[in-house]
Amino acid sequence: VPQKTKMESRPFVRPEGGGSLGCGKVSLEKLAKKYGTPLYVDSADQIVERYRLFKAAFGERESLVCYAMKANSAQAILKLLADEGAGFDIVSGGELERVLRAAPEAAGRIVFSGVGKTAAEIDRALEVGILEFNVESADELELLAQRAKKAKKVARFALRVNPDVLAATHPYISTGLKEHKFGVSIKEALELYKSTVGNKWLEAHGVSVHIGSQITEATPFGAAMQRIAALVKQLERAGIKLKSVDAGGGLGIDYEKDGFDVAGRVASFVAAITEALTDFDGRVMIEPGRFLVAQAGALVTRVVRVKKNGRKSFVVVDAAMTELIRPALYEAYHEIQPVAAPRAEKIKVDVVGPVCESGDFLAQDRKLPVVEAGELLAVLDAGAYGMAQSSNYNSRLKVAEVLVQGNKERLIRRRETMDDLLATEIL
Ligand code: LLP
Repeated sequence: VPQKTKMESRPFVRPEGGGSLGCGKVSLEKLAKKYGTPLYVDSADQIVERYRLFKAAFGERESLVCYAMKANSAQAILKLLADEGAGFDIVSGGELERVLRAAPEAAGRIVFSGVGKTAAEIDRALEVGILEFNVESADELELLAQRAKKAKKVARFALRVNPDVLAATHPYISTGLKEHKFGVSIKEALELYKSTVGNKWLEAHGVSVHIGSQITEATPFGAAMQRIAALVKQLERAGIKLKSVDAGGGLGIDYEKDGFDVAGRVASFVAAITEALTDFDGRVMIEPGRFLVAQAGALVTRVVRVKKNGRKSFVVVDAAMTELIRPALYEAYHEIQPVAAPRAEKIKVDVVGPVCESGDFLAQDRKLPVVEAGELLAVLDAGAYGMAQSSNYNSRLKVAEVLVQGNKERLIRRRETMDDLLATEIL
């Protein structure tokens, strides 16, 4: 178990004695000046640090940490994690191609999740030899068998089991109940595994589960894993010996405050999983997304103007729901800080973007230090499901992204141009 650390949970800090916010030692003012705004800034150091915390928590136990790349699929981040030995949890043919371009050497460490895999996606994944298909239905298993036979390749599969446990999170990101579209019931899984015995194109390789996202307690992960462990035993009795158990992702961060016990939370998550699997001697896999990248990232935005409507004050910024849709979609809270040393005077405001939707807000009724037009704000904990869920709505151009490592930064995604935006259209 790693030592309890007092590390800040965010890499965005001010120099001692106050002053302007940096990503580590790299000034956000400077980055905004150099690359323009809105701008995503990610800390490579924190991403690597988080990855190593998971690995350390597993200790001697054979493990594979598969980054759920949907959280932020920038190729530079994929490469960073692949170099650490990470695997990847993918959910589409597009994500597969990204890994193959950024880190082809990691193809054998890919697990493929998702309820809607098509024949073409399965064919490509078989061709490049991914580690495991996380199969979510009887129909998909049948299709996988057909495609594997056609390609004359053995498909390693895990059934994604729905453990029917409730985890406290937003309903849109909860997945582990029987009424959700994901996975198959434990009962059905047992029958499906048995049905593949003797099929030389299918290898019952593992079992997988994912109960939801932004779960900050270890208990539901442990409860789900107990049920999986019981299934693994039942399968063993039936002569089916699995090589891996994939516990999924879902570990949450604290959006509301800085400085929770990051290492401790990772340790209890991993302990809840491994303790349920003491009788299983195969490999344990996990699929963290948010926990690896959320706090490493900030969205830096410039105040366009400050306006008042009646009693209400608005800070209009150049970022919008197109760059960070989480507040609009999940009523998510993201801390916002002025980049420059904050003024003492605070006022209650809505921080809104220029998009023509009332849902276009980054914060509502938020007490913030007074800011003026031209100043910079940093929207924190935006590294997961920020850039990745961004859109071109209102013909807004996708923003640039920089990766900070040590005292240096590099551009990992240039700002989109109008020509990029129109390239696929036919007039
Ligand atoms: N594995 C599977 C099968 C998943 O569906 C997900 C996330 C993960 C792993 C990674 O979960 P994480 O460790 O990031 O919680 N857009 C939402 C989150 C959606 C999560 C979807 N599945 C948000 O912004 O909160």
